[in-house]
Amino acid sequence: MGINILGMGSYVPEQKLTNDDFKRFVETNDEWIRTRTGIVERRMAGWEPTWYMGKQASLQAIERTGVDPDDIGLVISCSITPDFLTPSMASVIQYEIGAHNAAAFDLNAACSGFVYALDTARRFLETDDSLKYVLVVTNEALSRFLDFKDRTTCILFGDGAAAAIVEKSDKLFSSHLGSDGSGARMLFARSLNVAPEVATESDFDSGFPEKPLHQLYQNGKEVYKFATHALPKAFEIAAGKVGITKDDIDYFIPHQANLRIIESAAKKLGVSMDKFIVALDHFGNTSSASIPLAMNEAVENGVIKKGMKLALIGFGAGLTYGGIVMEY
Ligand code: UT7
Repeated sequence: MGINILGMGSYVPEQKLTNDDFKRFVETNDEWIRTRTGIVERRMAGWEPTWYMGKQASLQAIERTGVDPDDIGLVISCSITPDFLTPSMASVIQYEIGAHNAAAFDLNAACSGFVYALDTARRFLETDDSLKYVLVVTNEALSRFLDFKDRTTCILFGDGAAAAIVEKSDKLFSSHLGSDGSGARMLFARSLNVAPEVATESDFDSGFPEKPLHQLYQNGKEVYKFATHALPKAFEIAAGKVGITKDDIDYFIPHQANLRIIESAAKKLGVSMDKFIVALDHFGNTSSASIPLAMNEAVENGVIKKGMKLALIGFGAGLTYGGIVMEY
């Protein structure tokens, strides 16, 4: 069983931060950021709550599809930058959009979140006949968790939200999800004030770089290496399960972290860059929202059309990765 994406929506805050704007915080320049990442500008949420962006994206998806919020049986929200540790962002959004009959939970697979959540939505739809629609919403305000003195990290990220409403269908769908927790220290933000020096039987806590609570730390080079392997692998395993090859795919929608990572994945797969949807130049890396933001934009622009075969491929903190091959 597959899924049909009935419709999507998105929301980005108005405030833009250009590459040159970063000169106010760190020693950098537009040329370095463009050539090393492909990013030109990104959006900043200011004091807009993360859930508020998710709500706006969800309302747009509801309006576009004409779905009655009472018919949404499940809300899955993805965010690595939630407003609360608890309640879930999904519960807040469920209330805000009036999805009175929906269950709600958050799913954290970092930048692979949308891929994980879409796959989870499909599994719920497959096993619960009473479930009509699932809302998958991704919402991120990375700007609130960045160290604006760390030039290697702060220039990469942006804020925004995107949502999709899905239903059961017999369309093509295959997925592969993975994780390598040994890479946890390569990309993290601490939550609670748990002293790392408290001994456990695991050596997990050793080797984490010092970073103030909440601030995002990234070892860019290690994450880069992981990403260039994870993206092609995620596609090949998902596609292999249903006998699909790269030539069957109309568009690849990769996690929008760095243009060089996307180019490397395209090269490894032997696919032209024309088949890759890229939106990171104007959104930066919006973590879980990056794939659906890029996808929604391509749908709005008429690039992605119903009946096309898509490959969604993501990677992120965890380190996680995941791929979906599906008919849109
Ligand atoms: O969803 C999360 C996933 N995250 C990612 O996918 C990130 C993956 N990693 C990357 O995208 C890249 O590793 C970065 C963009 C983070 C860094 O690019 P890089 O080509 O690996 O640069 P580098 O770290 O090797 O730095 C090269 C030089 C260094 O200077 P020296 O030591 O050669 O003098 C850096 O200090 O560039 C310097 N540098 C900068 N210069 C100007 C680092 N950041 C900046 C900056 N502006 N913003």
